Amino acid sequence: MASAYESAYRRSLEDPNGFWAEAAEGINWDQRWERVLDDGNPPMYRWFVGGRLNTCYNALDRHVEQGRADQPALIYDSPVTGTVRTYTYRELRDAVAHFAGALRSQGVQKGDRVIIYMPMIPEAVIAMLACARLGAIHSVVFGGFAPKELATRINDAQPRLIVSASCGIEGKRVIEYKPLLDQAIELAESKPQKCIVFQRPQAQAAMSPGRDIDWNDALASADPVDCVMVEATDPLYILYTSGTTGIPKGVVRDNGGHAVALHWSMKNIYNVEAGDVYWAASDIGWVVGHSYIVYGPLLAGCTTIMFEGKPVGTPDPGAFWRVISQHKVKVLFTAPTAFRAIKREDPEGKLIGNYDLGGFETLFLAGERCDPDTLNWAQTQLGVPVIDHWWQTETGWAIAANCVGLGALPVKPGSPTKPAPGYEVQVLDEAGQPVAPGKIGSIVVKLPLPPGCLPTLWQNEAGFRDSYLNTFSGYYLTADAGFQDEDGYLFIMARTDDIINVAGHRLSTGGMEEVLASHPNVAECAVVGARDTLKGEVPLGFVVLKAGVDRPHGEITKELIQMVRDKIGPVAAFKTVTVVQRLPKTRSGKVLRGTMKKIADGSEYSMPATIDDPAILSEIQESLQTVGYPKTGT
Ligand code: COA
Ligand code: AMP
Repeated sequence: MASAYESAYRRSLEDPNGFWAEAAEGINWDQRWERVLDDGNPPMYRWFVGGRLNTCYNALDRHVEQGRADQPALIYDSPVTGTVRTYTYRELRDAVAHFAGALRSQGVQKGDRVIIYMPMIPEAVIAMLACARLGAIHSVVFGGFAPKELATRINDAQPRLIVSASCGIEGKRVIEYKPLLDQAIELAESKPQKCIVFQRPQAQAAMSPGRDIDWNDALASADPVDCVMVEATDPLYILYTSGTTGIPKGVVRDNGGHAVALHWSMKNIYNVEAGDVYWAASDIGWVVGHSYIVYGPLLAGCTTIMFEGKPVGTPDPGAFWRVISQHKVKVLFTAPTAFRAIKREDPEGKLIGNYDLGGFETLFLAGERCDPDTLNWAQTQLGVPVIDHWWQTETGWAIAANCVGLGALPVKPGSPTKPAPGYEVQVLDEAGQPVAPGKIGSIVVKLPLPPGCLPTLWQNEAGFRDSYLNTFSGYYLTADAGFQDEDGYLFIMARTDDIINVAGHRLSTGGMEEVLASHPNVAECAVVGARDTLKGEVPLGFVVLKAGVDRPHGEITKELIQMVRDKIGPVAAFKTVTVVQRLPKTRSGKVLRGTMKKIADGSEYSMPATIDDPAILSEIQESLQTVGYPKTGT
């Protein structure tokens, strides 16, 4: 007999209209859709066309109306400030309705963009949901990005208003956000009319009169407002993610398909229901934060946890176990790197014994390849199933997962299991032909993508088609390479573009190369992702200096490291760059980054047949040794 997963998967592909219409019953609609899937304009597809709803209503108001008013909706747990604060569904709804009133008083209307540049504080969630309430489109920018990155996003989204805070807290350090915001606005061509700034006690932001408004002052003159109904196909948010150049891609998420898919995923993938406590230990600046700190758990009536801390050092590697036991977390979702950090400091998991993890059922990991060592360690220490699942900012929810709510399948370490319902995943060769099981190829998803996935890029349909749809006609290109085994399990092995994953953070090496190339002493450069025991990968730079530059190399490399930090941000974790005489290239002039990466990782490599001058590889090796590569134990 087919398992529940197999039946759901088959039905989702054979009868997508029926499958997703049924899932859409989990959402309250102001007006039901005319068509579930609009496939009249391939390769562009839309879901729930003609439907009207409000995502904030579905995330908050309906739970208040349906008996969950006093249930905790959001628990803010901040070891860095010594705070634990709970918002019930009623309190969160009221706070959101009030802040939505403040936004409206400042002129924010349906369809306007609002950039949110905030640390992990409840006001960030309130601001996101307030935008959703008004039908405004939020664009959250991760706090670890530098002003230039923020300015690029301001220029693209052209926000009417920006919401920010005076500071973030990174471990023991207070990072002032307001000077970064001011610099970004200075750099941006498109200036927001207003900024609302939440003053935290740890730092007082200097305000620009006429432009900046204190969060509390904005509230003081505002009344709560009701939800504004929007089309299912109207955008809920834009989330910028690294592309293959320094220019980020504005991934658009619509309201209807997103609400349906995320609501469906909570029960069927994560096996949680209304009333359960669900914790995604990520940041609201990333897609995991959008989908599984904010929207997914609230749409499902769960209690969500917002954790302002790190897996280690706040105060110790027992922080995750403390939060799980204190708040009775049923499901935790984080990145493998968090577990590598914990394992490094508490290899025997001694601190786990200090806490009662009785109610904890499942650990989900995503964001980067999950190495079997980390998966096995977590499973042994915690004694619960550890589920790797694979997804992207673009899809907004898992492309492949072990759908625990549909009955868990056996885990194969190193595999995120099988495609989730709605995703017809295939592995193709360069000619677009399916490869045999076990053979590596380009992983693609047959169109249409299921609800919740990006319908386009913000004001850039050509870029959307170019990046994702044009390579293999009829398929979405994931830009991940991997294989499917005989049992249909997927293995995600590498990106096919220049994206690297640093501590679960997605970064473009091309973007870093653009920064290095702008240094006056640099003639050419390359950045590769080198293997790292903690962060999975870290960027490693190679530069060739212009003829006649005779400054000490140490001085130049220091400047280069600072430049990447200043232009992209600390999150790039760009700490190593080495000066080389030349870069290895093919005879046609293509830089052999893959070979350089293998040398840095200490992996076996074969001499590329097309290499221009094989002697360069030993020069690269020698140069890498001077900066400690290959690292032992990686
Ligand atoms: N605001 C400002 N700066 C930030 C920031 C933020 N929101 N987030 C990170 N940074 C800074 C850090 O302070 C650090 O700066 P530094 O170079 O001055 O030390 C730098 O960006 C790199 O941060 P991070 O990658 O987080 O490294 P870390 O060494 O501070 O911590 C881990 C390492 C593994 C503990 C951490 O990456 C982690 O908890 N990862 C969890 C996984 C995760 O959240 N993934 C997201 C997708 S699911
Ligand atoms: P992001 O858009 O930041 O979520 O990053 C998406 C990319 O992270 C994917 O394209 C993969 O390269 C990688 N990724 C995410 N989850 C996994 C996983 N479970 N296994 C392997 N790679 C993953």
